[in-house]
Amino acid sequence: MADPAVQPAGGQYFEAEPAAASSPRTVVVDIDGTRLGFTTDSGVFSPGRLDAGTRLLLAEAPPIVDADRRMLDLGCGWGPIACVAALRSPAAEVLAVDVNERALSLTAKNAADQGATNVKVAHPDDVDPGRRFDRILCNPPIRIGKPALHELLAVWLDRLAPGGRAHLVVQRHLGSDSLARWLEGRGHSVTRLASKAGYRILEVGPVAAPAP
Ligand SMILES: C[S@@+](CC[C@H](N)C(=O)[O-])C[C@H]1O[C@@H](n2cnc3c(N)ncnc32)[C@H](O)[C@@H]1O
Repeated sequence: MADPAVQPAGGQYFEAEPAAASSPRTVVVDIDGTRLGFTTDSGVFSPGRLDAGTRLLLAEAPPIVDADRRMLDLGCGWGPIACVAALRSPAAEVLAVDVNERALSLTAKNAADQGATNVKVAHPDDVDPGRRFDRILCNPPIRIGKPALHELLAVWLDRLAPGGRAHLVVQRHLGSDSLARWLEGRGHSVTRLASKAGYRILEVGPVAAPAP
Protein backbone atom coordinates (compact mmCIF):
# COMPACT_ATOMS: atom_id res chain seq x y z
CA MET A 1 0.00 0.00 0.00
CA ALA A 2 1.12 3.48 -0.73
CA ASP A 3 2.26 6.31 1.41
CA PRO A 4 -0.24 8.53 3.25
CA ALA A 5 0.54 11.44 0.92
CA VAL A 6 -1.62 9.87 -1.75
CA GLN A 7 -4.83 9.84 0.31
CA PRO A 8 -7.39 12.07 -1.42
CA ALA A 9 -8.57 15.22 0.25
CA GLY A 10 -12.24 15.27 1.25
CA GLY A 11 -12.66 11.58 1.93
CA GLN A 12 -11.18 8.14 1.75
CA TYR A 13 -10.26 6.45 -1.50
CA PHE A 14 -12.37 3.43 -0.62
CA GLU A 15 -15.70 5.24 -0.36
CA ALA A 16 -18.44 3.90 -2.63
CA GLU A 17 -19.32 7.41 -3.80
CA PRO A 18 -16.30 9.69 -3.22
CA ALA A 19 -17.09 12.93 -1.41
CA ALA A 20 -14.33 14.80 -3.27
CA ALA A 21 -15.59 16.76 -6.27
CA SER A 22 -14.60 15.22 -9.57
CA SER A 23 -11.43 16.70 -11.02
CA PRO A 24 -10.21 14.49 -13.88
CA ARG A 25 -6.58 14.60 -14.93
CA THR A 26 -4.12 12.49 -16.91
CA VAL A 27 -1.30 10.42 -15.47
CA VAL A 28 1.38 9.27 -17.88
CA VAL A 29 2.95 5.91 -17.12
CA ASP A 30 6.06 4.61 -18.87
CA ILE A 31 5.96 0.85 -18.65
CA ASP A 32 7.00 -2.11 -20.82
CA GLY A 33 8.68 0.33 -23.20
CA THR A 34 5.40 2.11 -23.85
CA ARG A 35 3.95 5.42 -22.70
CA LEU A 36 0.36 5.03 -21.48
CA GLY A 37 -1.96 7.89 -20.55
CA PHE A 38 -4.50 7.13 -17.83
CA THR A 39 -7.39 9.29 -16.68
CA THR A 40 -7.50 9.64 -12.90
CA ASP A 41 -9.66 11.71 -10.58
CA SER A 42 -10.03 13.01 -7.05
CA GLY A 43 -11.52 10.55 -4.61
CA VAL A 44 -9.59 7.55 -5.88
CA PHE A 45 -6.30 6.06 -4.74
CA SER A 46 -3.11 7.84 -5.89
CA PRO A 47 -4.73 10.17 -8.43
CA GLY A 48 -1.51 12.05 -9.17
CA ARG A 49 0.83 9.25 -10.16
CA LEU A 50 1.33 5.52 -10.42
CA ASP A 51 1.82 4.35 -6.85
CA ALA A 52 5.36 3.15 -6.12
CA GLY A 53 4.06 -0.12 -4.68
CA THR A 54 1.92 -0.75 -7.74
CA ARG A 55 4.90 -0.09 -10.00
CA LEU A 56 6.97 -2.56 -7.99
CA LEU A 57 4.22 -5.17 -8.17
CA LEU A 58 4.03 -4.80 -11.95
CA ALA A 59 7.82 -5.10 -12.17
CA GLU A 60 8.38 -7.95 -9.73
CA ALA A 61 5.38 -10.26 -10.01
CA PRO A 62 6.22 -13.22 -12.24
CA PRO A 63 5.27 -12.90 -15.90
CA ILE A 64 1.74 -13.79 -16.82
CA VAL A 65 1.70 -17.22 -18.46
CA ASP A 66 -0.81 -18.93 -20.74
CA ALA A 67 -2.37 -20.72 -17.79
CA ASP A 68 -3.26 -17.37 -16.19
CA ARG A 69 -6.47 -17.09 -18.16
CA ARG A 70 -8.68 -15.83 -15.37
CA MET A 71 -7.16 -12.82 -13.68
CA LEU A 72 -8.42 -10.55 -10.94
CA ASP A 73 -7.29 -7.03 -10.06
CA LEU A 74 -8.57 -6.81 -6.49
CA GLY A 75 -9.17 -3.16 -5.63
CA CYS A 76 -8.48 -1.72 -9.07
CA GLY A 77 -8.49 2.03 -8.35
CA TRP A 78 -8.10 3.82 -11.68
CA GLY A 79 -6.97 0.56 -13.23
CA PRO A 80 -3.20 0.48 -13.75
CA ILE A 81 -2.81 -3.17 -12.74
CA ALA A 82 -5.79 -4.42 -14.74
CA CYS A 83 -4.81 -2.46 -17.86
CA VAL A 84 -1.13 -3.42 -17.83
CA ALA A 85 -1.93 -7.08 -17.10
CA ALA A 86 -4.50 -7.14 -19.90
CA LEU A 87 -2.11 -5.54 -22.40
CA ARG A 88 0.61 -8.01 -21.43
CA SER A 89 -1.74 -10.94 -21.79
CA PRO A 90 -4.38 -10.32 -24.47
CA ALA A 91 -5.68 -13.90 -24.17
CA ALA A 92 -6.50 -13.49 -20.48
CA GLU A 93 -9.78 -12.19 -19.14
CA VAL A 94 -9.08 -9.60 -16.49
CA LEU A 95 -11.75 -8.75 -13.96
CA ALA A 96 -11.23 -5.48 -12.06
CA VAL A 97 -13.25 -4.98 -8.88
CA ASP A 98 -13.55 -2.06 -6.51
CA VAL A 99 -16.09 -0.70 -4.04
CA ASN A 100 -15.44 2.85 -5.32
CA GLU A 101 -17.80 3.56 -8.23
CA ARG A 102 -15.58 6.36 -9.56
CA ALA A 103 -12.66 3.93 -9.63
CA LEU A 104 -14.71 1.42 -11.62
CA SER A 105 -15.69 4.06 -14.18
CA LEU A 106 -12.08 5.19 -14.54
CA THR A 107 -10.84 1.63 -15.00
CA ALA A 108 -13.46 0.99 -17.68
CA LYS A 109 -12.49 4.20 -19.48
CA ASN A 110 -8.77 3.53 -19.20
CA ALA A 111 -9.14 -0.02 -20.47
CA ALA A 112 -11.12 1.24 -23.45
CA ASP A 113 -8.61 4.02 -24.12
CA GLN A 114 -5.69 1.55 -24.03
CA GLY A 115 -7.51 -0.93 -26.25
CA ALA A 116 -7.50 -3.47 -23.43
CA THR A 117 -10.77 -5.07 -24.50
CA ASN A 118 -10.15 -8.04 -22.19
CA VAL A 119 -10.78 -5.97 -19.03
CA LYS A 120 -14.20 -6.11 -17.37
CA VAL A 121 -15.11 -4.12 -14.29
CA ALA A 122 -17.53 -5.08 -11.54
CA HIS A 123 -18.61 -4.16 -8.06
CA PRO A 124 -17.49 -6.98 -5.72
CA ASP A 125 -21.10 -7.78 -4.80
CA ASP A 126 -21.92 -8.44 -8.45
CA VAL A 127 -19.29 -11.16 -8.94
CA ASP A 128 -20.53 -14.75 -8.90
CA PRO A 129 -19.06 -16.27 -5.71
CA GLY A 130 -18.35 -19.44 -7.67
CA ARG A 131 -16.02 -17.63 -10.04
CA ARG A 132 -12.38 -18.77 -9.79
CA PHE A 133 -9.11 -17.01 -10.66
CA ASP A 134 -5.72 -18.28 -11.80
CA ARG A 135 -3.97 -15.04 -10.86
CA ILE A 136 -4.89 -12.31 -8.44
CA LEU A 137 -2.91 -9.07 -8.41
CA CYS A 138 -3.53 -6.68 -5.55
CA ASN A 139 -2.21 -3.58 -3.90
CA PRO A 140 -4.47 -4.03 -0.88
CA PRO A 141 -6.40 -1.26 0.87
CA ILE A 142 -4.51 -1.49 4.16
CA ARG A 143 -6.28 1.62 5.45
CA ILE A 144 -9.66 -0.08 5.69
CA GLY A 145 -8.26 -1.65 8.89
CA LYS A 146 -7.05 -5.12 9.74
CA PRO A 147 -10.41 -6.88 10.32
CA ALA A 148 -11.88 -5.58 7.05
CA LEU A 149 -8.66 -6.32 5.17
CA HIS A 150 -8.55 -9.87 6.48
CA GLU A 151 -12.19 -10.38 5.53
CA LEU A 152 -11.56 -9.00 2.03
CA LEU A 153 -8.51 -11.19 1.44
CA ALA A 154 -10.21 -14.28 2.87
CA VAL A 155 -13.15 -13.90 0.47
CA TRP A 156 -11.06 -13.43 -2.66
CA LEU A 157 -8.09 -15.68 -1.90
CA ASP A 158 -10.58 -18.50 -1.36
CA ARG A 159 -11.53 -17.95 -5.01
CA LEU A 160 -8.04 -18.88 -6.23
CA ALA A 161 -8.22 -21.88 -8.56
CA PRO A 162 -6.12 -24.93 -7.64
CA GLY A 163 -2.60 -24.06 -8.73
CA GLY A 164 -3.48 -20.37 -8.83
CA ARG A 165 -1.38 -17.63 -7.25
CA ALA A 166 -1.96 -14.20 -5.83
CA HIS A 167 0.65 -11.45 -5.78
CA LEU A 168 0.29 -8.71 -3.21
CA VAL A 169 2.38 -5.62 -2.57
CA VAL A 170 2.45 -4.32 0.99
CA GLN A 171 4.65 -1.77 2.70
CA ARG A 172 6.75 -3.27 5.45
CA HIS A 173 5.89 -0.50 7.88
CA LEU A 174 2.19 -1.08 7.18
CA GLY A 175 2.37 -4.69 8.26
CA SER A 176 3.57 -6.87 5.38
CA ASP A 177 5.17 -9.38 7.72
CA SER A 178 2.22 -9.72 10.07
CA LEU A 179 -0.06 -10.06 7.04
CA ALA A 180 2.18 -12.85 5.73
CA ARG A 181 1.95 -14.62 9.08
CA TRP A 182 -1.84 -14.25 9.12
CA LEU A 183 -2.03 -15.74 5.62
CA GLU A 184 0.17 -18.64 6.64
CA GLY A 185 -2.06 -19.15 9.65
CA ARG A 186 -5.03 -19.53 7.26
CA GLY A 187 -3.16 -22.31 5.50
CA HIS A 188 -1.81 -20.39 2.50
CA SER A 189 1.69 -20.89 1.20
CA VAL A 190 3.40 -17.49 1.30
CA THR A 191 6.65 -16.64 -0.45
CA ARG A 192 8.38 -13.28 -0.07
CA LEU A 193 9.34 -12.71 -3.70
CA ALA A 194 10.94 -9.32 -3.30
CA SER A 195 11.72 -6.76 -0.66
CA LYS A 196 12.57 -3.35 -2.09
CA ALA A 197 12.21 0.30 -1.17
CA GLY A 198 10.18 -0.53 1.92
CA TYR A 199 7.75 -2.85 0.13
CA ARG A 200 7.35 -6.58 0.05
CA ILE A 201 5.90 -8.60 -2.79
CA LEU A 202 4.11 -11.64 -1.41
CA GLU A 203 3.20 -14.67 -3.50
CA VAL A 204 0.22 -16.46 -1.98
CA GLY A 205 -1.11 -19.89 -2.93
CA PRO A 206 -4.60 -21.24 -2.32
CA VAL A 207 -5.44 -22.94 0.95
CA ALA A 208 -4.72 -26.63 0.46
CA ALA A 209 -7.80 -28.85 0.46
CA PRO A 210 -7.96 -31.01 3.60
CA ALA A 211 -6.79 -34.58 3.10
CA PRO A 212 -9.67 -36.99 2.50
C1 LIG B 1 -4.25 0.65 -2.41
S1 LIG B 1 -5.56 0.96 -3.52
C2 LIG B 1 -4.91 0.25 -5.04
C3 LIG B 1 -5.58 0.80 -6.27
C4 LIG B 1 -4.97 0.33 -7.61
N1 LIG B 1 -4.99 -1.11 -7.70
C5 LIG B 1 -3.56 0.85 -7.75
O1 LIG B 1 -2.65 0.02 -7.63
O2 LIG B 1 -3.37 2.04 -7.99
C6 LIG B 1 -6.76 -0.25 -2.96
C7 LIG B 1 -8.11 -0.22 -3.65
O3 LIG B 1 -8.96 -1.16 -2.99
C8 LIG B 1 -10.28 -0.67 -3.01
N2 LIG B 1 -11.09 -1.35 -2.00
C9 LIG B 1 -11.28 -1.03 -0.70
N3 LIG B 1 -12.12 -1.90 -0.13
C10 LIG B 1 -12.46 -2.81 -1.08
C11 LIG B 1 -13.31 -3.95 -1.10
N4 LIG B 1 -13.96 -4.36 -0.01
N5 LIG B 1 -13.44 -4.64 -2.24
C12 LIG B 1 -12.77 -4.24 -3.36
N6 LIG B 1 -11.97 -3.16 -3.40
C13 LIG B 1 -11.81 -2.45 -2.28
C14 LIG B 1 -10.11 0.82 -2.78
O4 LIG B 1 -11.25 1.55 -3.17
C15 LIG B 1 -8.85 1.11 -3.59
O5 LIG B 1 -9.19 1.54 -4.90
